[in-house]
Amino acid sequence: MPKNKVAIITGGSKGIGLAIAQELAKNGAKVVIADIDEKNGSTAAKKVGGLFIRCDVSNEKDVKNMIEETTKRYSVINILVNTAKVYMYKNIKHVTTAQWTSSINVNINGLFFLVKHSLPLLEETKGVIVEVASGLGMPLERESAPYIVSEAATFALIKNIAKTYAGKVRAVGVNPGPINTPLLHVAFSGDLNKYGQLNPSKRVGTPKEVADLVAYLVSEKAAYITGTVVTIDGGEGN
Ligand SMILES: NC(=O)c1ccc[n+]([C@@H]2O[C@H](COP(=O)([O-])OP(=O)(O)OC[C@H]3O[C@@H](n4cnc5c(N)ncnc54)[C@H](O)[C@@H]3O)[C@@H](O)[C@H]2O)c1
Repeated sequence: MPKNKVAIITGGSKGIGLAIAQELAKNGAKVVIADIDEKNGSTAAKKVGGLFIRCDVSNEKDVKNMIEETTKRYSVINILVNTAKVYMYKNIKHVTTAQWTSSINVNINGLFFLVKHSLPLLEETKGVIVEVASGLGMPLERESAPYIVSEAATFALIKNIAKTYAGKVRAVGVNPGPINTPLLHVAFSGDLNKYGQLNPSKRVGTPKEVADLVAYLVSEKAAYITGTVVTIDGGEGN
């Protein structure tokens, strides 16, 4: 368990990121929540006894500043968890170039900036990167090419980092099925209980279930796990 480890959680203001921040803090980590949502981010940081830093992951300067502020405060970084993402439900014919680019900027470039600026520090601590994304797309997912494509690409980057830095920095992907978060409420406006019935486990997952998995993946117990994507989807078959 990550006692006294310094963990940056992007997208930690809400949803899966918030649950991860809570779980890692409960396990003794010093948590930094990096998010564009200042209101929920500050509240979340107070709740977990961590630090909130406003950061748009698609902005390299913001990411660089956030990493610098973290090291100014805590000297080291042990864990980087990236959950900061944008969702878009739109038929590919109607996706504008600006919308496509903005999805790529947050969902792919965000991970690139985070990795680029934190890797030297993670190498010093033999740290770990966890990317929470939607690797292959939920089987029921339609019409969301900018989201699915940009999120799937990040797993390729994770596998590449894992190979390049094997023995120095671990890099792991987490591929959730439907999880009860603000994102899922945007994706499916109907009754989530009814939607859950379509899943083999007859329910959607909870953010805490994903957080428990991430807490394991960043722990010493998972020292031999790198370069892979772990699916948590109730059997949906992502
Ligand atoms: N919820 C699900 O059903 C589900 C399913 C599959 C995969 N996922 C993946 O899990 C991850 C987390 O999803 P979630 O459901 O918690 O999402 P969410 O929308 O509930 O939370 C995302 C967080 O990211 C932040 N954010 C958005 N853009 C940002 C930016 N540019 N810079 C910094 N922060 C930014 C938001 O403010 C928010 O706090 C995403 O990669 C998502 O695709 C979720």
